[in-house]
Amino acid sequence: MNTVEIKNLTKTFGKTTALDNLSLNIEKGKITGLIGADGAGKTTLLRTITGLLIPDSGEISALGFNPVTQKDELTPLIGYMPQKFGLYEDLTVLENLILYADLKNVTHNFEKMLEFTKLAPFQDRLAGALSGGMKQKLGLACTLLGNPEFLLLDEPSVGVDPISRKDLMKMVREMINPQTTVLWSTAYLDEAHSFDTAIVIDKGRVIYNGKPHDLGETAQEFENKVIDLMGGYKQEPSKIAENYTLLKDIRDCTVEADNLEKRYGNFYAVKNNSFCIQKGEIFGLLGPNGAGKSTSFKMMCGLAKPTNGTARIMGIDITKDPEKARSNLGYMAQKFSLYGSLTVRENLEFFASAYGIKFKNRAAKVQEIIEVFGLKDYAQQKSEELPLGLKQRLSMACALIHNPPVLFLDEPTSGVDVITRRDFWNHITSLAKKGVTILVTTHFMDEAEYCDRISLFYHGETIALGTPQELKDKAKAKTMEESFITLIKESEGE
Ligand SMILES: Nc1ncnc2c1ncn2[C@@H]1O[C@H](COP(=O)(O)OP(=O)(O)OP(=O)(O)O)[C@@H](O)[C@H]1O
Ligand SMILES: [Mg+2]
Repeated sequence: MNTVEIKNLTKTFGKTTALDNLSLNIEKGKITGLIGADGAGKTTLLRTITGLLIPDSGEISALGFNPVTQKDELTPLIGYMPQKFGLYEDLTVLENLILYADLKNVTHNFEKMLEFTKLAPFQDRLAGALSGGMKQKLGLACTLLGNPEFLLLDEPSVGVDPISRKDLMKMVREMINPQTTVLWSTAYLDEAHSFDTAIVIDKGRVIYNGKPHDLGETAQEFENKVIDLMGGYKQEPSKIAENYTLLKDIRDCTVEADNLEKRYGNFYAVKNNSFCIQKGEIFGLLGPNGAGKSTSFKMMCGLAKPTNGTARIMGIDITKDPEKARSNLGYMAQKFSLYGSLTVRENLEFFASAYGIKFKNRAAKVQEIIEVFGLKDYAQQKSEELPLGLKQRLSMACALIHNPPVLFLDEPTSGVDVITRRDFWNHITSLAKKGVTILVTTHFMDEAEYCDRISLFYHGETIALGTPQELKDKAKAKTMEESFITLIKESEGE
């Protein structure tokens, strides 16, 4: 039995072919993973199945209905979680759940949901004040309400920490009926083995459709196979780093946190945090959702006022001279914070001028960064229309346009495909070799290995600090993921 049957489906947007004569079936009662590069067509496929987009040609049926002509019959049977799920930011966690339960006409029984998402202690907090990963979990909980027959989840685990990612999959498995079909798109290849079927798409075509284990037994093997299928990754010298002059005569301690604290009422988002990051160091801030990572970033670049303590960038106090401190850093926010209605090129031009790049150098600098980041084909596109991974690429380009000595990257690779991630990290490690100091957060545990030092952050405090090897030794673990889980659980036990 198939929930979805697709034959020769094509969908174009102007010159771009998003789905290219694609054929596939999705089996009923199974969890099918949809894997693909940024812009491969994952979101277009999901939107076409829900009837939100009308294909140019081809046949499609979902739960026996034609999504275009029988949308009214289909819609009540599906649960669709788009990439940007519509939470009501001015309502609390509980109020959002109530609202969605009422819309779907189901009872207010949220205990299990709140437990799985670990949101129970925060049910009275405004959704707008949740961390990125907490929002994602709440969105999934709202989608699951009412037990839809067919769930379409567009990257539900983006920005979700490794412990909670496992919980989300468990939550879906346990809360659905055996008859429910799930289509789950993802950029985390370590999730692949928990799917019944994995479909890899590239440039609008299916390049693999089968059991995840048949492609690769381990996560690493699977990742390498996917990269091969996508045409392979060739590491080239980072052009961005090549354009940096080696930072020599600068102080050693480039980024300092000095008893940083952020309190909301009697809740401490960040508690008494101090560290010093060395010139050219890649310093990773790891921790579960809501640990206080983004709050630390925001305070350290002067976007949020500490309730106590301060931070210094190249020795300049961020609370006393925020502008001067900020001119030394590039900041990539966790949430896409560029101008959606401006094109890629216009955004870069805006940041070039905001960061004080002289007019006569601006056009050349913008062109250079467009080429280096592979944004040429998208330069005239509005940034809000870009696929998630490309938005991330553009954000990073904007943060780097003024060649700052310090870079703050808040989940730069969330939602980014595996090849682009390798590319990002190639730039990051090459920049560090030029003396650029990098503070970075990630929920990809393989990326944590690239950091020189890691601060493991939980409930607003550092619970472990050291090199990746030191953290593994401390947890008596083989992998970073294992150490993460062990150290967090240990600190919970205390
Ligand atoms: N305005 C606010 N009022 C109340 N609590 C807030 C506010 N802003 C943030 N918080 C809380 O502070 C905590 C830390 O949030 P933060 O965004 O720093 O987490 P994070 O470590 O970046 O998580 P993630 O991995 O999900 O991005 C969370 O519990 C969040 O809900
Ligand atoms: Mg965050």
